[in-house]
Amino acid sequence: MKLDELIQQARAARLHAYAPYSKFLVGAAVGNAAGEYVRGCNVENAAFGSTICAEAVALSQAIALGIANITDIAIVTETQATPCGNCRQLIAELAPGCNVHLATPDSSEVKTTVIEELLPDAFTSLD
Ligand code: THU
Repeated sequence: MKLDELIQQARAARLHAYAPYSKFLVGAAVGNAAGEYVRGCNVENAAFGSTICAEAVALSQAIALGIANITDIAIVTETQATPCGNCRQLIAELAPGCNVHLATPDSSEVKTTVIEELLPDAFTSLD
């Protein structure tokens, strides 16, 4: 997994965001040690509650493609926004130990943390 490449993937995905209501474009990309990448963007809906976050799209697509052992997620927004609570829960279960990289469309500045910092003591019903 190359961090620069992961961020570029998230930036590219962000350009496909469907966000006519909030106008807040989000791109995400997940990657693993095998160098596989999967992207996602937010997809809004007139029924606001049907909106899907960029992270959820990327993680769900990784599952569907059989791409496992996600080690890193890059999230690109204008504000270096941290993932919402729902997305933190998804990352915690689907990519435990995941490094979370917060980036912007243009700047080289990246903030990196890990999902357990963003969501300590995540809910689980498994064992
Ligand atoms: N959004 C994401 O894609 N990921 C997050 O973690 C938080 C919010 C999207 C949902 C909506 O389309 C827009 O950002 C504004 O909330």
